[in-house]
Amino acid sequence: MRCIDKNQIEEKLQQGYPLSGRWHNGFHLEMPFGLINDPNGLVFANGQYHIFFQWNPLGCEHKNKCWAYTKTEDFVHYSRPRLAMQPTDAHDKDGCYSGCGFEEEGCVRVLYTCNAKDEAGVRTPAQRLGTLLADGTVRKDEIIVPGEAAGYTAHFRDPYVFVRDGRRYFVLGAQNEALQGRAVVYGEMAADNGGNWEFMGEIKTMYPDFGYMWECPNLLQFADGDVLMFCPQGLTAEAYAYQNRYQSGYVSGRLNLDSMVMEHGAFCELDRGFDFYAPQVLEADGRHIMLGWMGMPEEEAFYPSAEDGWLYSLTVPRELTLQDGVIYQQPVAELLALRKQKSEQQVMAISAYEYQSLLPELCEAKLTIQMGAAEHVKLMLVYGEERLMFCYDRLRQVMTIDRNGMKLGARGVRSFMLSAGNVLNFQLLVDKSAVEVFFQDGREAASMLIFPETETAPQLIVQGDSSLSKIEGSIWELSSYK
Ligand code: FRU
Repeated sequence: MRCIDKNQIEEKLQQGYPLSGRWHNGFHLEMPFGLINDPNGLVFANGQYHIFFQWNPLGCEHKNKCWAYTKTEDFVHYSRPRLAMQPTDAHDKDGCYSGCGFEEEGCVRVLYTCNAKDEAGVRTPAQRLGTLLADGTVRKDEIIVPGEAAGYTAHFRDPYVFVRDGRRYFVLGAQNEALQGRAVVYGEMAADNGGNWEFMGEIKTMYPDFGYMWECPNLLQFADGDVLMFCPQGLTAEAYAYQNRYQSGYVSGRLNLDSMVMEHGAFCELDRGFDFYAPQVLEADGRHIMLGWMGMPEEEAFYPSAEDGWLYSLTVPRELTLQDGVIYQQPVAELLALRKQKSEQQVMAISAYEYQSLLPELCEAKLTIQMGAAEHVKLMLVYGEERLMFCYDRLRQVMTIDRNGMKLGARGVRSFMLSAGNVLNFQLLVDKSAVEVFFQDGREAASMLIFPETETAPQLIVQGDSSLSKIEGSIWELSSYK
């Protein structure tokens, strides 16, 4: 446990705003220094969305895991992020790991994993409650589950509280002794039974052998089905799937909490880009709002913003809807307030091979492309000599995202199946280094970080291999979060 001087960190934070530096984003949450990862403790309470996330304030490495905290009423104005909780005792000395938030009698409570290792590096997890105090820090309360359940390894973490029929439960990421990823469930016992939490078993899915660890599970209830989201580690990459080091996705169907059987369809990935992991969802007023971490474990070396002392962002909040068992994602409607005047260049081209437009530095572009006779459509964000490319092969119905045209940072290609008929639509959110793209009205999403070498606003180019019949849409300059 490295001693973290709270006052020193707060002072450094004061100096860190407004965020400056070549790649700092305008409408993605991030920190002026240190490394951030998983969104944590998401909850809507007392008229505000409370957002915590993993933060190492001491460097750009996965160490010294603290929780940072900010809140917002509208996803546009945020309180200045601060240090909420840090490793302080024998239970969490090796990290205040991920966890969730929930409301209880007007208070914001959290449930997180305490991570401790002995001299030999042997890990002991514990699940502990906490309470958000008025000053934005978290008071650590009692441990409700010490250690791991019988039959599981110490990779036993990332609790997510959910309620069914008035009873509280949490789902936890786990690894069984055969080194297979699992999601297990604990249920709260009645107060007259001591108010303890009982181990209810693991969720029986049709994926008994699907990666060696499932991190950050979420159990969600939609009007017509249950969704188990989780992050399996150790899947083998396929032509159109599982192309990141670790994946984030879900299965949807029905969970029976008596039998613990979940009947469900195939695992779907939540994001097709390069930089997306450990998403968490909050439920408020019937909406499911998800934030993800824009980053990827164990790839710190590839992100050049570390040279400037900071790493990673969170995605914009996305609203999820379940349609025929499939999650669709859209930026929350509140983000419409970021749009400045619709830009002059309202895209409108009839029978064109190519459309070009200089974009504002922070912007949103919504494009509908009637493909006509074209079999290939290419969309590019061009930064001087560098480019990020999206290529659609209509016959194979494959979308490829190509980051090899960027000079700095991680590169590579990601491909996925996208069924588009004759009309392709894109919604792009372009920030300084964070780009999020929603395809076919949110049927697929892709998140990526890019680090253009020169500070130029990008140019948008859309091309077809033969005449595209129509490209239409709009471009808005966006403002930063306030
Ligand atoms: C996922 C994760 C979690 C863990 C946290 C630690 O990115 O590894 O499983 O709780 O990060 O920062």
